[in-house]
Amino acid sequence: MAGLYAFLAFRASGAYCCRQKFNLLKGIGMESKYIVFDGMDGSGKGTQMELLKKKLPEVVFTREPGGTPFAEEIRNLVRDNPLAGQSTPLNNLLLFWAAREECMHNLVMPALKAGKHVFSDRGDSSTFAFQICGEEQGELMDFFMSLRKLVFAENSGRRQPDLYIVFDLPAEVARERALQDASRTKTHFDLRNIGYYERVRDGFQMFAGWWPVEFVDADRTPEEVHNSVMKILATKAILD
Ligand code: TMP
Repeated sequence: MAGLYAFLAFRASGAYCCRQKFNLLKGIGMESKYIVFDGMDGSGKGTQMELLKKKLPEVVFTREPGGTPFAEEIRNLVRDNPLAGQSTPLNNLLLFWAAREECMHNLVMPALKAGKHVFSDRGDSSTFAFQICGEEQGELMDFFMSLRKLVFAENSGRRQPDLYIVFDLPAEVARERALQDASRTKTHFDLRNIGYYERVRDGFQMFAGWWPVEFVDADRTPEEVHNSVMKILATKAILD
């Protein structure tokens, strides 16, 4: 894993500069915010999204993969199709970015341009944490960065997420919760071992070195976690 960290640090060393430049270029008319909520399977993210939906009817909620009819088809393919477990890491990376491109074009950007906040259940932070780190595919990092630049290209009027809120907890607690969750149809993603969960957790930490992430301690009651999320949204002036 140490080798992977060094490799990723080298490959993404330009990312922070890009982020600074991106922030400087953000202009007037960009009041609407694009926020990604993420975490390991079993992090309680689904419960938190439901609590937010109930409280914030004015916000546009979406999810990845998914959000639009076509992106939901990609979700069925990559997540729920019985053959999905046979997909290669590169194929997974391409399919998750394909779903993201579709959702950006047809849902996220139109909503942001209409002045609405967009809250997304997962985003590119998941592709980084799951495909690059969880699946130990550091050599796909250049490709990840190229796709990221295209899909979030500001020169074609796109934006990247303003903030990532990551629900963090010990990998073994998350895995146990995911396995015990009777409301969730188990997919090939849920059958991963503890090492995979640990790499995904580390992946989110690494992602935070380059892009704006707020971590929330998710090993608490749903109400406590929700209060922390609301505090972050208020502090960042996303909500009053
Ligand atoms: P969920 O929407 O129920 O959390 O399931 C989505 C699954 O897909 C979850 O196991 C995480 C995984 N995933 C990736 O591996 N890469 C990605 O880029 C995204 C968005 C999700």
